[in-house]
Amino acid sequence: MTFSLFWLGSPCPGVDTMDPQMALLYLLLLGPGLAATVPSCPQNVNISGGTFTLSHGWAPGSLLTYSCPQGSYPVPASRLCKSSGRWQTPGSPRSTRLTKAVCRPVRCPAPVTFENGVYTPRLGSHPVGGNLSFICEDGFTLRGSPVRHCRPNGMWDGETAVCDNGAGHCPNPGISVGAVRTGSRFGLGDKVSYRCSSNLVLTGSSERECLGNGVWSGTEPICRQPYSYDFPEDVAPALSISLSHVLGATNPTQKKKENLGRKIQIQRSGHLNFYLLLDASQSVSKDDFEIFKKSAFLMVDRLFSFEVNVSVAIITFASRPKTIMSILSDKSRDVTEVLYSLQNANYKDHENGTGTNIYEALNSVYIMMNNQMQRLGIVTSAWKEIRHAIIILTDGKSNMGGSPKPAIDNIKEIVDIKQNRNDYLDIYAIGVGKLDVDWKELNELGSKKDGERHAFILQDPQALHQAFEHMLDVSKFTDTICGVGNMSANASDQERTPWHVTIKPKNNEACRGALVSDQWVLTAAHCFHNAKDRSLWRVNVGDPNSQWGKEFLIEKVEISPGFDVYAKKDQGIQEFYGDDIALLKLAQKVKMSTHARPICIPCTVEANMALRRPQHSTCQDHETELLNQQSIPAHFVALNGSKLNINLKTGEERSDCIKVVSQDKKKFPNLTDVSEVVTDQFLCSGTQEDDNPCKGESGGAVFLERRFRFFQVGTGKLTRLSTGTQPSWGRGGDGGGGGEGGL
Ligand SMILES: *[C@@H]1O[C@H](CO)[C@@H](O)[C@H](O)[C@H]1NC(C)=O
Ligand SMILES: *[C@@H]1O[C@H](CO)[C@@H](O)[C@H](O)[C@H]1NC(C)=O
Ligand SMILES: *[C@@H]1O[C@H](CO)[C@@H](O)[C@H](O)[C@H]1NC(C)=O
Ligand SMILES: *[C@@H]1O[C@H](CO)[C@@H](O)[C@H](O)[C@H]1NC(C)=O
Ligand SMILES: *[C@@H]1O[C@H](CO)[C@@H](O)[C@H](O)[C@H]1NC(C)=O
Ligand SMILES: *[C@@H]1O[C@H](CO)[C@@H](O)[C@H](O)[C@H]1NC(C)=O
Ligand SMILES: *[C@@H]1O[C@H](CO)[C@@H](O)[C@H](O)[C@H]1NC(C)=O
Ligand SMILES: *[C@@H]1O[C@H](CO)[C@@H](O)[C@H](O)[C@H]1NC(C)=O
Ligand SMILES: [Mg+2]
Repeated sequence: MTFSLFWLGSPCPGVDTMDPQMALLYLLLLGPGLAATVPSCPQNVNISGGTFTLSHGWAPGSLLTYSCPQGSYPVPASRLCKSSGRWQTPGSPRSTRLTKAVCRPVRCPAPVTFENGVYTPRLGSHPVGGNLSFICEDGFTLRGSPVRHCRPNGMWDGETAVCDNGAGHCPNPGISVGAVRTGSRFGLGDKVSYRCSSNLVLTGSSERECLGNGVWSGTEPICRQPYSYDFPEDVAPALSISLSHVLGATNPTQKKKENLGRKIQIQRSGHLNFYLLLDASQSVSKDDFEIFKKSAFLMVDRLFSFEVNVSVAIITFASRPKTIMSILSDKSRDVTEVLYSLQNANYKDHENGTGTNIYEALNSVYIMMNNQMQRLGIVTSAWKEIRHAIIILTDGKSNMGGSPKPAIDNIKEIVDIKQNRNDYLDIYAIGVGKLDVDWKELNELGSKKDGERHAFILQDPQALHQAFEHMLDVSKFTDTICGVGNMSANASDQERTPWHVTIKPKNNEACRGALVSDQWVLTAAHCFHNAKDRSLWRVNVGDPNSQWGKEFLIEKVEISPGFDVYAKKDQGIQEFYGDDIALLKLAQKVKMSTHARPICIPCTVEANMALRRPQHSTCQDHETELLNQQSIPAHFVALNGSKLNINLKTGEERSDCIKVVSQDKKKFPNLTDVSEVVTDQFLCSGTQEDDNPCKGESGGAVFLERRFRFFQVGTGKLTRLSTGTQPSWGRGGDGGGGGEGGL
């Protein structure tokens, strides 16, 4: 046996407390300064008129960030000290000489065209404090702001001026400052598209369509200076603009479902850094934020259910990011600590800055990554082997800090994303709840054509949990981890219950069983009771390459020594199913896959880990956790493979449940004490709300779910009674008695 059973009161044997990843970190920190052996970066990086900060002094891995006084912006914005001892400036070729950093004055863009009117003054661009005035031709009415002022962030105040004669089905959508529009018909179904002149960045929708309700799809495109950002006071008007464009269910972009593309790889070897970014800005209400928290909770809990080396960072953000849990903290590897900190994440933390700065939120991830890389040593493989998944729960309405793209580019650079390392980084942008989500922005943030990023909009946390299940890729997960089933609605039956096997004689079907390791199957002894030639029996195990599964020969059958159908014949009990347990050793080991994995057996070390209980937990603890109510929802697998629901009864409900047995006078004519037949080893189910088991399902696992893992609490034994009702008994895996001693 590769698993072992431990008895009531005895502690599950300890596992080594030292987390290998932690030990690794520790060693590296104590190691003689790796950095000292590599050159440091030159110090001639001054910026005239501005200042800079260094994340790690002049050492490789250090990030230099420039800043300039209001009304000016730094060029370049940052530099990274490479292991070669050279500064690398994002956006400029690696080989060029270090360009001098300067503070440049902020300028607002000039209009490219203005329809049906005139504007003054006509300049190439406008200084901060400059004014722009608009006047319409006769017959046209001006909508928006007749005069606009250039502000210190490089953005015009007010709204786009439009001269409209009201002739279209939709109002004239206008041409925002710096944009060029294609399309000048505003009838139903007409489309207009936009691009930005010169170096400006388009935010909002580049294409819009005139919809039936007389509004344009998407949001107004705004051409921004790459360095521009919004002030918190801009948030409210920006919000009301986008609210006036709420399109509800008619939003055509929302129907276009993205291909799910690549996934988050779950592997036992290596390490996954999981960064959760929760939008707490004004456009996300407190209730929505609570939905984000619940969604994050489900994702974290599911992620840790795989017992992989994962660290979780949690950042809430609005105008500024707040790190709730850092990837650098040892606590980020502890599910209890992560969930606790998530619970305490507070919407109010951002009450004084309610803008939406996704750039800064992602930049804080970048800084975290940078610090970890620094810690692990830039040249070691420890950093390179970490996979990263960033999940941004947001409505996508970024309105400060400019485009998040530079932060994403920095992240891609530090994680060294190139063709053969594509699966080391995943960024998902997800809207959950009844938010007015800006799909377009979300899409831009999370999803690109190459299928590397993803965006979702989901109704509720449960829907997110379903989607998350799809985002997880466990195909590279070949360990014998127990009780991991696929919880996606789209998973096949075998993927949902990968431990489920069919045991059959040469031709007709006979019994079911459950993989409990990669070579052993737990089933019912009575299946072999009348078996003539066991060498003819086969065990059919799930196989991803064949819908029929893979056949295994049985090397050995171990029947519980206590099993004897006729043991109580003298008492008038024709058939007795105490100790109805058998273990089959397969002739070969099963290759673990999403279709074949063992189930968890209570009272084992594996189950203890799956339940995330402390090391010295007892079997009694497991029993208490698993069988904790009078009626416990559980499952078994029907003949057709689907998962059916039953309720296991304990306490008084169990007494009622087993009473039915004594009423079967045909099978048990002289029975006075029902517990002679249904001993403490048996669980009972079969009340009205339960799905009915069938003949042939005997031996299969009766199982239940805890913390996204599955635990077998019994083996199926159906008793068809002549009274009409049909209780089924699960043979208790860990209940009372201790009859499994022979195993
Ligand atoms: C950079 O500026 C600081 C003070 O502003 C000055 O002390 C230092 O010498 C300058 N370094 C270089 C390399 O110009
Ligand atoms: C712009 O207009 C404001 C008032 O509308 C005025 O105070 C300011 O002087 C004007 N600026 C320029 C550069 O004309
Ligand atoms: C991940 O954890 C497992 C068990 O906890 C350990 O054996 C393995 O070495 C770890 N891998 C890394 C890269 O930390
Ligand atoms: C917001 O500002 C107010 C007034 O300055 C202060 O009392 C409060 O603590 C601040 N809230 C947060 C979360 O910083
Ligand atoms: C499951 O499949 C259906 C149909 O193929 C699809 O519409 C649905 O989005 C899928 N569910 C998930 C969670 O991907
Ligand atoms: C669950 O099954 C779906 C559909 O086959 C698959 O895309 C997904 O990766 C699986 N997830 C897990 C956790 O096994
Ligand atoms: C039941 O009891 C009756 C009388 O006590 C006896 O004649 C009969 O043989 C018993 N039946 C069985 C199956 O033991
Ligand atoms: C499988 O069988 C169960 C009853 O045993 C039934 O409720 C269920 O609908 C069946 N599923 C399919 C897909 O036929
Ligand atoms: Mg917002």
